[in-house]
Amino acid sequence: MPWWHGAFIYQVYVRSWRDSDGDGYGDLPGVIDGLDYLEWLGADAVWLSPTMPSPDDDWGYDVSDYLGVHPGLGTLDDLDRLVREAGTRGMRVLLDLVPNHTSSAHAWFVDARGSRTSRHRDFYVWADPAPGGGPPNNWLDHTGEPAWTFDEPTRQYYLHNFLPSQPDLNWWNPSVHEAFEGILRFWLDRGIAGFRIDVAHGLYKDAELRDDPPADPADPRGRNGLLPAYSANRPEVHGVYRDWRRIAEAYSPPAVLLGETWVREVSELAAFYGDDDELQLAFNFPFVFADFRADAMRSVVARTFASLRPGACPVWTASNHDISRFATRWCGGDERRIRLALGVLATLPGAMVLYYGDEIGMPDVDVPPALQRDPMTMNGRAGGPCRDRSRTPMQWSGGPTGGFAPEGVPTWLPLGDAAAANVADERVDPSSVISWTRALLGVRRLYLSGSVASYEELPGGDDQWVYRAGPLVVRANFSEERVQVAGVGQVLLRSSAEPVGAGVATAANGGNLELAPWECVVAAESP
Ligand code: NOJ
Repeated sequence: MPWWHGAFIYQVYVRSWRDSDGDGYGDLPGVIDGLDYLEWLGADAVWLSPTMPSPDDDWGYDVSDYLGVHPGLGTLDDLDRLVREAGTRGMRVLLDLVPNHTSSAHAWFVDARGSRTSRHRDFYVWADPAPGGGPPNNWLDHTGEPAWTFDEPTRQYYLHNFLPSQPDLNWWNPSVHEAFEGILRFWLDRGIAGFRIDVAHGLYKDAELRDDPPADPADPRGRNGLLPAYSANRPEVHGVYRDWRRIAEAYSPPAVLLGETWVREVSELAAFYGDDDELQLAFNFPFVFADFRADAMRSVVARTFASLRPGACPVWTASNHDISRFATRWCGGDERRIRLALGVLATLPGAMVLYYGDEIGMPDVDVPPALQRDPMTMNGRAGGPCRDRSRTPMQWSGGPTGGFAPEGVPTWLPLGDAAAANVADERVDPSSVISWTRALLGVRRLYLSGSVASYEELPGGDDQWVYRAGPLVVRANFSEERVQVAGVGQVLLRSSAEPVGAGVATAANGGNLELAPWECVVAAESP
């Protein structure tokens, strides 16, 4: 079975995880220092946020060299060592690959904008002004501005779905395919186990550059009032993943391709798995953005399993570097809900991805405008909150730098309330969130790893979500009520901080149990 079936993948936002050299930024040697911790936690793999050289207009998602390591994060030797050191602990390393766009500082773009006949001109999407002047069509970038920037010297517009310094690549050009296939092989040959693919749904754009239609305000797929029907989400992208899958399969074990597949409805997700010949893993954003209610969760999970081909491996995650952390967004900081959410994430069949800090219930941090560092979303740009709220330093301990950087070093983003939630204090407390997470991961490894277990929803009240996951039965109480349940089976774990005792189901009491408000109980089915 592929190793990622039932695996636990840990996302490290490298700049914010561990600062080894005291400059206030996390780095690759810091990640190496943290590998023992990840082994203790039970990670099967680490996904590193972008590690390649970049001017950092989008913190690494604007790559200027796909075959290197960002000097601020370390060296290629550090990355090689990280892969080796992870390997000795039984862990694999995934890199973030950004194929939709490059940095405008990339040598390809520097060459491309040199003249209309430059060798790399067609690596990018260029177009003449509209007949009456102005941008070639109505497409908007992620900040809500026109997605086209006029290049004065060559008198054409170039396309950027993100910042103007992130020109979109032209995937209609076979040379772009060739270049990326070389990039894939370069890293896989060095022992990288696979890639998280940025903007995986977006590489191809409509060949005729047709206008995006207006979006119905109720349509969740809308962006800045438009439906990105032509500026992204084109069917031709599947050919790219079929090619990459063939490359991935040439390695032993096969490399894994995990797509950032921004679709708003789970039924659209299945296409990215192809006929088991495209991506092996695809992020499930409809689940991420589901309301934290039993009915909403049950429904999106049921639809996920109904739409994926049997054997396909869903991905369960709830936080990342672009969105609010689940401890805040789903749980409003309520520890009972945080434990419940972790219980569900760890027991749904498929792969699970936790974002650094999720394991201690780390909440969003309110980063004041003067300290914001994300050019794309600072000061309300892009019309939403600044993404820095979920990129603050990892809270390793309760000290002034949270154990992230040496004492006295100003951290690149402000530290959250490390005294309230940190690894050091939680590790020694058997009733802490991290102890709960680790216990869940232990049960997961024992019962759910190595396969995509079967999933079946079981009857329960309106605010209950009861399901069978392989040999486990999970009862999740999404309410403030206490709930009586019968025939529980052998209780393996319960999330309530209440002492286990009278509440444990036994043969003597007929397997009855009372669930506390927002409690999650994981049981093994009675034989
Ligand atoms: C998705 C990444 O997760 C996000 O951080 C980035 O800004 C965009 N893609 C553009 O690369």
